[in-house]
Amino acid sequence: MLGYHPFRYQPFRGLYLTYQVVLTTLVWVPIWTLISLPPFLRPRASWDFRRAFWVRVLRHLGYVETMVGSVPAPPNHTALVEGVKGLWIEPVPHLIVGEIKETAVADNVQAIRIPGYWTDTKGSDIPIGQAPILGEKVLYHLHGGGYVALSGNPRDPTAAIGRQVMRYYKPILRTFSIEYRLSQALPNTPANPFPAALIDAIAGYNYLVNVVGFSQADIIVQGDSAGGNLAIALTRYLLDNQGRSDVDIPAPPGALLLLSPWADIGTSHERPNSTFYTFTNSDYILADKYGDLAYKRAAIVGPFGLGAAETNRYISPASLHPIANSNTKGGLFKGFPRTFINAGGAEMLRDQIRTLRKKMVEDMGEGEGKGQVEYYEAPDAIHDYLVFNWHEPERTETLKRIAEWLGAGSA
Ligand SMILES: *[C@@H]1O[C@H](CO)[C@@H](O)[C@H](O)[C@H]1NC(C)=O
Ligand SMILES: *[C@@H]1O[C@H](CO)[C@@H](O)[C@H](O)[C@H]1NC(C)=O
Repeated sequence: MLGYHPFRYQPFRGLYLTYQVVLTTLVWVPIWTLISLPPFLRPRASWDFRRAFWVRVLRHLGYVETMVGSVPAPPNHTALVEGVKGLWIEPVPHLIVGEIKETAVADNVQAIRIPGYWTDTKGSDIPIGQAPILGEKVLYHLHGGGYVALSGNPRDPTAAIGRQVMRYYKPILRTFSIEYRLSQALPNTPANPFPAALIDAIAGYNYLVNVVGFSQADIIVQGDSAGGNLAIALTRYLLDNQGRSDVDIPAPPGALLLLSPWADIGTSHERPNSTFYTFTNSDYILADKYGDLAYKRAAIVGPFGLGAAETNRYISPASLHPIANSNTKGGLFKGFPRTFINAGGAEMLRDQIRTLRKKMVEDMGEGEGKGQVEYYEAPDAIHDYLVFNWHEPERTETLKRIAEWLGAGSA
């Protein structure tokens, strides 16, 4: 056993990547092409060649990342990316209170400044931080990547989601994203455990409300995969700390978009018949193979301990284990804003996303405009499929549903 990230340092990283490029081009691509051509060899009967092929590519890329660390290299949250609309988001230590402050102190996590980025809807060029116009909605995008990879930079693959949502829903003129701190665990230098990303997400939300001047009702918080986890944690934090006498915490957003959310970071959905095991062939997530999920889990909880991934409502709200619940409203999701959840019908996280939906519906209600929770499961779709422009027709169908649902909420 080579362990996790054995080739994380140069020159081994470069050598291994070169080896993989050659091997993939000469050996894997021809093999993947051949076994993706006959429809009966594809993981799902409805899949076309392209999808069967690309899922294999993505899964292999995930494997390569377990050897060298994230490809491309993870973002640098102490530097602003050039050539895009970026600015520094000031930390807000005074807004970090209660149990999150206690955890931050215990885990030695500070509030620091981080990069923030703006992406305008196609064809417009809005000055950074311009005050909102009447009726303007804003999308606050929290990117996925298992809390250990990808970026808030507008060139990141996940930024496609914000651009597409703006394309279908016109009241949103711009998307704001943050370069929240990514977590690391051994064999890398452990860094930025929970609640680092949450503290950064609070700073970004404060920027939208108290610096740019958006009304909280006009903010739509969107998170894909781990970003969905962060979107729930941010909302929970804002809700739990409303009405404090010592500090004015901004009110929660007007709506949530949870897109293939990673809602159980613990092990409670790792059951024999769950999609965690039965859908490994139709998705690209590596889950427990090669220690990938164990690494991410360890990186996120850090010194807080693995037990937190099972029972902490900020970390694993969809855990099947009993969750310590101190929501002042008396329910894990009581008081949450309207929420749109999607899942891919072929994705490994499907079961835990269904659990999340069930828990949210119990507390918030559902159905035909009356309820607060809208759930859409695209049959045979993979994890975070909105990121991939080849994942049609499910991608367009979902974006239309999101736009319609957002429109119904502001009527
Ligand atoms: C991140 O950016 C800072 C500021 O530009 C620089 O000093 C530092 O070396 C960078 N870190 C990495 C890992 O590139
Ligand atoms: C798993 O599925 C099989 C076949 O559908 C069934 O016989 C078995 O009882 C299931 N096991 C569990 C633990 O649910």
